[in-house]
Amino acid sequence: MADTVVKTADPKMAELRKFMAEQKKTQYNDEASLIAILHKAQELYGYLSVEAMDEVAVTMKIPTAHIWGVATFYHYFCLTPKGKYVISVCLGTACYVKGADEIMSKIKDELKIKVGETTPDKLFTLQEARCLGACGIAPVMMINDKIYGTLTPKKVTEILNNYRKQG
Ligand code: FES
Repeated sequence: MADTVVKTADPKMAELRKFMAEQKKTQYNDEASLIAILHKAQELYGYLSVEAMDEVAVTMKIPTAHIWGVATFYHYFCLTPKGKYVISVCLGTACYVKGADEIMSKIKDELKIKVGETTPDKLFTLQEARCLGACGIAPVMMINDKIYGTLTPKKVTEILNNYRKQG
């Protein structure tokens, strides 16, 4: 198949194609290259869309099933769009001993979703983290790029309600 770059109106896809072309000059076709490309796709789109994976498959000339396998094997790849607010609950040791599991249960109850899921209104996505580097204020969670520490279940409800109000 020809390596011709097809013009696209999607600037993100254009950037992904440019990135793949750069990879081709170096280590193209090995696993590290594929992972770097999938990272780039996720960085651009916020998740790995079917369209992005198909594009990678065609360009790298590898079966989509293989790409799907790699994407589902590594937990840091996300196959569905994330919510407006991504909640990362730290389950590292310092947070765990300070009740991170209780915090996680409270969030699951409040949002009625499991880890890795997004609320139907697309407002919140829940994920786990391993040490957010704020052990001194454990237990900790991060919502997008903001850290919240010394959490209690009550505090969690208040924080989530504030985000709900912002919409
Ligand atoms: S273990 Fe949670 S911030 Fe370090």
